[in-house]
Amino acid sequence: MRFSLKFVIPLALALSLIAYGVVPLVDVLTFKWFTRDIDIRTKLIGSTMQDALIEGSSNPSDGKLQRLFSRAIQDERLYALALCNTENKILYKTQTFPEVVTCADHDAHNQVLNLPQGPLHVGYYNLDDSGKNAGRLVMLHDLSFIQRRSTDTRNYIVYFFGALAAVVSLITVIIAQISLRGWVRGTRALLRGEGLLRPFSQVGTPELRPIAKDLKLLIRDLETDRRVKDANQISWNPNSLKEILNNDLKGDEVLIVSNREPYIHVRRNDKIEIQFPASGLVTALEPIMRACSGTWIAHGAGNADREVVDKDDHVQVPPEDPSYQIRRVWLTKEEEQGYYYGFANEGIWPLCHIAHVRPVFRSQDWAQYVAVNRKFANAVIEEAKTDDPVILVQDYHFALLPKMIREQLPKATVITFWHIPFPNPEVFSVCPWREELLDGLLGSSILGFHTRFHCNNFIDSVDRFLESRIDRETSTISYKGVLTAVNQYPISIEYPVKWLKTQKSVSECRKQIRKLNGFSDDRLIGVGIDRLDYTKGILERFLAVERLLELEPEWIGKFTFVQIAAPSRSSLNEYQHFDADVRALAYKINKRFGKDGYDPICLKVEHHEPHQVYEYFRGADLCFVSSLHDGMNLVAKEFVASRDDEQGVLILSQFTGASKELTEALIVNPYNIDQCAAALHMALEMPEGEQRNRIRSMRGLIQEFNVFRWAGRMLMDAARLRQRSRLFESVQKSKYSKDWPQT
Ligand code: G6P
Repeated sequence: MRFSLKFVIPLALALSLIAYGVVPLVDVLTFKWFTRDIDIRTKLIGSTMQDALIEGSSNPSDGKLQRLFSRAIQDERLYALALCNTENKILYKTQTFPEVVTCADHDAHNQVLNLPQGPLHVGYYNLDDSGKNAGRLVMLHDLSFIQRRSTDTRNYIVYFFGALAAVVSLITVIIAQISLRGWVRGTRALLRGEGLLRPFSQVGTPELRPIAKDLKLLIRDLETDRRVKDANQISWNPNSLKEILNNDLKGDEVLIVSNREPYIHVRRNDKIEIQFPASGLVTALEPIMRACSGTWIAHGAGNADREVVDKDDHVQVPPEDPSYQIRRVWLTKEEEQGYYYGFANEGIWPLCHIAHVRPVFRSQDWAQYVAVNRKFANAVIEEAKTDDPVILVQDYHFALLPKMIREQLPKATVITFWHIPFPNPEVFSVCPWREELLDGLLGSSILGFHTRFHCNNFIDSVDRFLESRIDRETSTISYKGVLTAVNQYPISIEYPVKWLKTQKSVSECRKQIRKLNGFSDDRLIGVGIDRLDYTKGILERFLAVERLLELEPEWIGKFTFVQIAAPSRSSLNEYQHFDADVRALAYKINKRFGKDGYDPICLKVEHHEPHQVYEYFRGADLCFVSSLHDGMNLVAKEFVASRDDEQGVLILSQFTGASKELTEALIVNPYNIDQCAAALHMALEMPEGEQRNRIRSMRGLIQEFNVFRWAGRMLMDAARLRQRSRLFESVQKSKYSKDWPQT
């Protein structure tokens, strides 16, 4: 009793000092610091945007302001923007800009408004056009992060001082004990290293044991709290991903399921070779798997795949430095025909892409799709070593898998990512199995799309076709007792790109591709690199080249467009027709404008390995991505990342997810052939300085928003969900659980 008082009284005194003195002071100080920072930021943003705003204000409806503003408010803290003219009228504002804030209310400058959308900091910046007043930029910063940070800081301080106070009190008590029992004996014991040098839990005095236990717990809590991070504060690379896996997910098991495998073994001339498939999905996920060391379950499609697996159908990859394993799933010809070619690629693929190819739905294909999803679900169950793994399900081949997995592993965290666009409910409604597809996907804990637009299309389709509870505020759907968070995660590429490590310099790549194709040294080169797929806009791209040569004949003989088209899904009619159309159009244009060994279009319908693709990216003057509809399109990002010389122009279709991020590209409508021809002309004539500015800005964005960030954000969200459900489980077990609503 006496001992406890000696310990508890100083501890209580120290804690009250922290609670009533230090914490409020810290709150006030942090709030002041953050608002001052925001004020400085307001001035910085204003002066950076000033020239572009003055230029944009001359014609607010030409889209420049809209692009500028939507790019600016991608910054998570910048909530809304408005541009006012000199008469204090709003010329342009973002949709998030609240009615209550006006152009004229100067008193509000540097004040905080508490609006229903949260605390917002109001900042005015007066635009100055060579000494003349040119209007005003109004900026609203979201201050909710301050509250979060203040809470974090407060927690740190409370934990830190709490621990310090406990340690000081403990030392005081120990010293008192030692003097009570005789300093000679105590000193001897200390010198012998007994007591203090032993682990706390074994300390001789039984009264100290519970305190030691509490201290241990406290230290563990501190560790856990440190992990509640903000994606913006992390520099994203394989190590930060590993940290999330080890700390946030506590080393939990990770499995990936996709149809396409990252390494395909093929037999050529009595030798087994490895092929890297042309797939955006694989490009993005392979570096993640190298960082996570899990199991990747995929269809074994290579003709030598069976020869290299072990008895459990596993093969260790990457071959040069194995860090994870592929589990191959074998499909019969009928299964592959119905599930992959039929339902996935003749049904869902055209359904989701607005490329004006009609989807075909056959009940036999559907039956195979269900059976193959079941086969993969069984493979997941076989591979899972724990009852709550994190499973990353990929793409439209596996819409039914999340639910099938959940039926057998209810505690698993299933993160499904849909790599292609998701159509609106009208378009989606034509699928005879629309309810089943939605029902399957809603087995996911998290369902990801590249853009908010596709998330909304999915939510609208669920709203239209299923009985569910939708919370649009938090973007979650509650369906048959499962809660699914529908989030936007724009995919990206590994940065820096591993394939660049072994690439030659840009000038050597230029020489090499000119030599390889018999082009003269001064020939300007455009590249297009795609699967031979009707969604990629290859015909429209060729028509644009033809139009360029019609309108600007000086390019005849000086410019060649190299189209690399990897054969894809070639047993399907639609793809065979497309192949024939592409070859015929290239032939027609070459016949019209070709002369003396010069062809304006150089078509290469063959698979190219990544190092060859990167050689073309680096040796070209421009890259043209003209998809008619594309979830993201990673070719655009790869081209930009490949240009460490900061030269080269990207022409990018407005119908790709990438166009929302790479706004410094020349953005075109691929159906507008004249506009695309003008973009080609502009790209060929673009001064080096402008090329540098554009590429530099896009490279910066890809560096920051790389694929590790894409995966890291999903895994962090998964970790939060798991933490929450553990907490929920413990509340349910408590005797008060009946008093809480069951959500
Ligand atoms: C798209 C899909 C991927 C697919 C890739 C290649 O990017 O989203 O899932 O792997 O095309 O197509 P393939 O049919 O050859 O796998």
